[in-house]
Amino acid sequence: MSLISPRMDRIKPSPSSMATMRVRELQLAGRKVIGLTVGEPDFDTPANIIEASIRALRGGQTRYTNVDGTPELKDAVALKFKRENGLAYSRDQITCANGSKQVIFNALMATVSAGDEVILPAPYYVSYPDMVQLAGGTPVFVESTEASGFKLEAAALERAITPRTKWLMLNSPCNPTGAVYTAADLKPLTDVLKRHPHVWILTDEVYEHIVYDGLKSASAAAVEPALFDRTLTVNGVSKAYAMTGFRIGFAGGPKELIKTILKMQSQSTTNPSSISQMAAIEALTGPQDFLVERAQNFRARRDLVVDMLNAAPGISCRKPEGAFYVFANIGGTIGKYTPEGKLIANDLDFVMYLLDAAEVGVLQGSAYGMSPYVRISYSTSTEKLQEACSRIQRACAALVSPPAR
Ligand SMILES: Cc1ncc(COP(=O)(O)O)c(C=O)c1O
Repeated sequence: MSLISPRMDRIKPSPSSMATMRVRELQLAGRKVIGLTVGEPDFDTPANIIEASIRALRGGQTRYTNVDGTPELKDAVALKFKRENGLAYSRDQITCANGSKQVIFNALMATVSAGDEVILPAPYYVSYPDMVQLAGGTPVFVESTEASGFKLEAAALERAITPRTKWLMLNSPCNPTGAVYTAADLKPLTDVLKRHPHVWILTDEVYEHIVYDGLKSASAAAVEPALFDRTLTVNGVSKAYAMTGFRIGFAGGPKELIKTILKMQSQSTTNPSSISQMAAIEALTGPQDFLVERAQNFRARRDLVVDMLNAAPGISCRKPEGAFYVFANIGGTIGKYTPEGKLIANDLDFVMYLLDAAEVGVLQGSAYGMSPYVRISYSTSTEKLQEACSRIQRACAALVSPPAR
């Protein structure tokens, strides 16, 4: 009898975490690899948040708390949802966990059964399909097009809904494409959902504050109040406040669902770190002005990367509206050969070629449900980005077209 449960056959390790580990391994082995795979801001955690953590430690905040967050953290989250999203959640409509990832995991485990379908617009965040499958459900992928800015279209959503549909999961700003759903983008989708009262909607808004060009990423529950009672609005402090290691995520949603999520968490991790909760309160209630400055800083890097990639033969790259990733089309490199004579047949081949020949680590679009693309994180210094993009340009220029027959 095998030790490992067949449940584990349904999932794979997160490709982004694996690639980041591989880049670190190569760097440790002395290779000058520039990793553009990481999914976290390269800014420091603000000093006031660090101070709050130290105060928490010194003040003896070192014990178990309520399983899904202290009342004080829930109040800070409620304040954030009201201030930034126009959503009014009471304490019993809020849950806090070890990162937004745990909130999503708990919500799916608590609601999805065998045969249930979960609609995932592609490209999608790598963990969604695996979480759905772990819960026993079936991911239903709905591809978007580059021409639509990688956004789910209402007609496609309508076609994907069946009597077994449990959730639509929407991520804005999107990892990996950077697509931002404004209120105008969401309205046609919420109109569809209004006609299908059995479908719930989970909105993953963790990149909310990293938006460009004056855009505002909207929350479905605010755009269509009729959906408030079947929406789970997920967010966290990781990306906005450069607090990925603190592991605090949260969500607002209907009481019944929040209670079930609490039950899940009470039998697994219990509360998120008491110290991190204090830090998150400071993040959500302290100064917010640096968020705009940081987004502007990311914007300059986005523009640099988009321009340099568009100058690489075989790559075309649309300008993303948010998050810190570009999702570049590498269609023009497919079918070409490396100087060593290896065929670039797909985006994984291209990623391996870049790692070997250019010592640049990026991620294949196939991991996000769309090929042939690569996801490039520009959350690293301008100097490194310039160097990495120059290397990519040279590597693309070195590819050889197959001889004409
Ligand atoms: C779209 C998206 N959702 C959720 C997460 C998880 O974030 P955390 O668990 O740190 O809140 C990530 C992290 O990369 C992400 O890209």
